[in-house]
Amino acid sequence: MHQFIQQYRGFAIASFIAVGVTVALSLHWFLYQHHADGWAQPVDWSASTTQQPLPSLRTLAHEHGLAIGAAVAMEPLLNDPTYSTLVAREFSSLSPENAMKFELLQPQRNQFQFAAADALVDFAQAHKMTIYAHVLVWYRRLPDWLVKGHWSRDELKSILKHHIDTVVGRYRGKIAAWDVVNEAVNMEGTGLRDDFWRQGIGPDYIDLAFEWAHAADPDAKLFYNDFGGEALGRKSDQIYQLVKGLRDRGVPIHGVGLQSHFKLWKLPSLKDIAANVQRLSDLGLDVEFTELDLRVHKAWGSQTDKLNRQAQVYQQITNLCLTAPRCRGITTWGVSDQWSWVRFVLQQPDAPLLFDQNYQPKPAYFAVAQALRSHP
Ligand code: XIL
Repeated sequence: MHQFIQQYRGFAIASFIAVGVTVALSLHWFLYQHHADGWAQPVDWSASTTQQPLPSLRTLAHEHGLAIGAAVAMEPLLNDPTYSTLVAREFSSLSPENAMKFELLQPQRNQFQFAAADALVDFAQAHKMTIYAHVLVWYRRLPDWLVKGHWSRDELKSILKHHIDTVVGRYRGKIAAWDVVNEAVNMEGTGLRDDFWRQGIGPDYIDLAFEWAHAADPDAKLFYNDFGGEALGRKSDQIYQLVKGLRDRGVPIHGVGLQSHFKLWKLPSLKDIAANVQRLSDLGLDVEFTELDLRVHKAWGSQTDKLNRQAQVYQQITNLCLTAPRCRGITTWGVSDQWSWVRFVLQQPDAPLLFDQNYQPKPAYFAVAQALRSHP
């Protein structure tokens, strides 16, 4: 009996180890395949170790007619010289992370607060940067007076028109591009989100917003912006149908913003992003990566490993934008990991951006620089 248990235990341990090894190997294979899905690319780190000052991203991007942007927070932009110097040095385009949202621009009905937005525009002009502005129509960050009011369809139309006329009109000629409508397609990709604007005005709120924005600033490029539709799939098909419909009806839309809040452990396929950019371009639309950041904290591997894989993804997105004729620019959603919305709003310990908590460039920074430098 004793012998039998001994034998049985040996067998059990052996089976346990065998199963464990098989699972580990499959998992490794799966993860490797997943990451290898077009993203893996050798990165040359030589530039990161040279002592000479390197050309900034904006200098490198300028050669290719590409905008390289950051979404900025007004507090550090105005009060922290480390932040503002870095922004002015590295980026050629600015987006307001929050300063141009409805709630902040019109906190009370007809009482507009332009101080923060004006400061952003002044900063951009002082540093010869363009502005990709965000956002005119979104179901979030709306003031209480608006969401708690009871409005007829006509009243809501006139509130929205007045907001767009006032805001777009104020900055007429100073804004390169506007996110006119943000996140209008539902998560499942089956149709429009049943949100505040759709409920109050009806699905044509989108056409109307683009028409009003165009009338208020005929030179601004007008974008539809969304997340989760970067590659191919139901949501991106739905976005495609939406913007194709706008084009077919002659609504003044000029581009699609791919937010690109990516996760290293759940990346879409690079090939499918390229195919999606291509089909949008074929409609005669520009494409921008508007809110790029890349979470890593739930990915496998050491932190060094993760940041290197993060760099490869940033590099591939840059390459994609450089080779796609209608990709006009890349904006990262923030500047340094310290202040990323992933940490503050989503409450996740992460490092999704190009600069670390001390504003030092990360592997991702050097990877973007390298992609820009090596492109013919
Ligand atoms: C986020 C900001 O980064 C946060 O500071 C704010 O609290 C909430 O909004 N998609 C968008 C952006 O279009 O406006 C969001 O920005 C991030 C997701």
